Amino acid sequence: MIGRLNHVAIAVPDLEAAIAQYRDALGADVGAPKDEPDHGVTVVFITLPNTKIELLYPLGDASPINGFLDKNPSGGIHHICYEVEDIIAARDHLTQTGARVLGTGEPKIGAHGKPVLFLHPKYFNGCLIELEQV
Ligand code: CO
Repeated sequence: MIGRLNHVAIAVPDLEAAIAQYRDALGADVGAPKDEPDHGVTVVFITLPNTKIELLYPLGDASPINGFLDKNPSGGIHHICYEVEDIIAARDHLTQTGARVLGTGEPKIGAHGKPVLFLHPKYFNGCLIELEQV
């Protein structure tokens, strides 16, 4: 069921500094910042040969990234995203095995314009998992 690693998301306390670091120090292909008001984040995608890195920066007071950065002031890995072919089938299978979907349980449209869901980290060894239908 699980497909490719789509991206690793890193919450950052200083978006401009993180962009400069990936672009200038690592020589990576860094995209333009994009506001995602539905998710309370500004995202920057970095394209690597085999996957992507998603920089996450809080957008608005209710951003889910605010609490994460309070606990991790220098930033940190926030979630990893796996690709699935059928997000509803994946959700139904995973909830039957004990996973809990965050929010309403219904997919939202994610940063790539495709349906996404998040699974509670308690079920996945402390790691927040995003599923993206490709
Ligand atoms: Co993501």
